[in-house]
Amino acid sequence: MPTEILQLTDLHLMADRNAALKGVRTRDSLADVLRFLRERSQAGEWDFGSIILTGDLAHDEKLATYEALRELLGDWVSRCRLIPGNHDDRALIRKVFPELVPARGEFINFSVESSGWRLIGLDSHVDGEVYGRIGETQSQWLAAELSAHIAQPTILFMHHPPVPVHSAWLDCIGLRDAGALIDVVRSFPQVRVICTGHVHQEFSVTLNGVRVLTTPSTGVQFRPRQDELICDPIPPGFRIFRLAGRTLESNVIRLPELNHSAT
Ligand SMILES: [Fe+2]
Repeated sequence: MPTEILQLTDLHLMADRNAALKGVRTRDSLADVLRFLRERSQAGEWDFGSIILTGDLAHDEKLATYEALRELLGDWVSRCRLIPGNHDDRALIRKVFPELVPARGEFINFSVESSGWRLIGLDSHVDGEVYGRIGETQSQWLAAELSAHIAQPTILFMHHPPVPVHSAWLDCIGLRDAGALIDVVRSFPQVRVICTGHVHQEFSVTLNGVRVLTTPSTGVQFRPRQDELICDPIPPGFRIFRLAGRTLESNVIRLPELNHSAT
C-alpha cells in the first residue's frame, strides 16, 4: 500500500491576514492550497502519512503568525513535522508547536520512520542571516541517525538547497557548508533524496546518485535561472512523495489558476 508524504514550503505568512508579499496574499494562498489538498484527500486521491513543512513558515517572525499557521493546519497538525527557514524564529516555533519539536537542544530537526522509510529534517537556520548552515553538531547527529537506520531508504529535508539552482542571487544564499553535508551523505547510500525549499521554484538534479529536489512556495514564485529576483506569475504548489516498498515517486503539483494577488 503506497504512502504519501506531503511537503509544503516557504509559506511566508504574516500576522496581518491581508498582508501581501510581492503582491501575493500569502495567508489566502496557503488557505487555497490547503483547501485543494483537503478536497482531494476527502475524495480519496491522497492519504498523507506525514506532512513536512520545510521552513519560512513566517515572514514576519511574530507569535500571531505561527498561531495562524496552527489554526490553518487544523486537525493536520499532528501529522506535521517542521524545520525552520531563514525567516523563522525557533523560540516561537517551540512555543506554538511544542509537541512537534525536540524538547532539548538548539536545533529544530527530526528523524522519523514512515512506511519503512526514514525521514530526516535538518535545521539550516542561522540567526540574522539569509544563507544556511547545518553545522558540525548536526552533521554528527545526521551521521549517527543514518548509522542507526542503515537499512531504511531515506529522504533528507532541509530549507536551504545544498546545490546551485543557476540563479546568481539565490546561489549566494544557499547552504554554506554543503560540502560537509555531502560528505556525510556519500557515506550512507541509503540516502535517496535531499528535498528543500528556499528557492520558490521546482528544480531537480542528481548528485552522486542522490536526487536533489526543490519545491515551489505555497505563495510567491520565483522565475528560474535569473541573476536577480523576478517573480513568476504562476500558481503556488507543493510536492508529494509516493512511497511503495523501496521505490519512490515524487511530483510537484500546482493549483489551478486562482487569483492570489493583492488588490
Ligand atoms: Fe522563502
